[in-house]
Amino acid sequence: MNSDARRRLIIALDYPHIRLAYSLAKLLAGLAGMFKIGSQLFTAEGPAAVQKLASLGPGIFLDLKFHDIANTVAGALSAAATLPGVRLINVHALGGLEMMRAAARAVRAHARRPKLLAVTVLTSLDARAMEQVGIGGPLGTRAVKLARLARQAGLDGVVASAHEVSRIRRACGKGFLIAVPGVRPEVSGRHPRSSQWADDQIRVATSAEAIRAGADYIVVGRPITAARDPRAAAEAILEEISSALRARI
Ligand code: C5P
Repeated sequence: MNSDARRRLIIALDYPHIRLAYSLAKLLAGLAGMFKIGSQLFTAEGPAAVQKLASLGPGIFLDLKFHDIANTVAGALSAAATLPGVRLINVHALGGLEMMRAAARAVRAHARRPKLLAVTVLTSLDARAMEQVGIGGPLGTRAVKLARLARQAGLDGVVASAHEVSRIRRACGKGFLIAVPGVRPEVSGRHPRSSQWADDQIRVATSAEAIRAGADYIVVGRPITAARDPRAAAEAILEEISSALRARI
């Protein structure tokens, strides 16, 4: 198995309790660079879930997407940074420059610190949904603007859809991390945009498209966790990442 591909695959464990998350994680531990714990599992099980899943080996992406005033976010990140195995944590870039600066300072205070990412525009939102909350304009331009702001604040990278990766890469440079959720496989030659796989995600792409565009990490949940054979689904995605990486060189 190509270890560069594996390092880039983050599997989202969106489960209501640790029992299910842990049994799936055990099955997939050799196939993932990180496991992602989101607000569902963390709210149900707390830091104990982080400890238990970290014991399996892959690092933890603690995806709690903090969005609050600077002082509160900084405090939450200080607590998150001390949890075992946490290698990635995040905030919403819409929290603003000063909030992100405070977040970066809080994380930097820890010796073996996780990398800090900012969510640009959720992959479940399209231009119409953004317009509804009073944030109009082209989504790509907005995501790039938020990525630049995150970089200015001293963050390590962003979470963005595959559609914005190449523009963010051009704007923010090579070392800036880009993690891409909303990844769906092609089914019977049909692009995920037009298949039943999209679920609640709107700005979807295949992992090959995301990697070719320059993504560092691919975040995949249901296409693996809800598959009849989760190991086979993860292996297929790793294969797709590997060949896209070869094409990128
Ligand atoms: O199941 P699915 O592959 O859609 O899971 C994607 C994961 O990535 C979810 O856990 C979701 O919370 C997360 N995520 C996202 N969009 C972002 C940031 C994180 O879908 N912008």
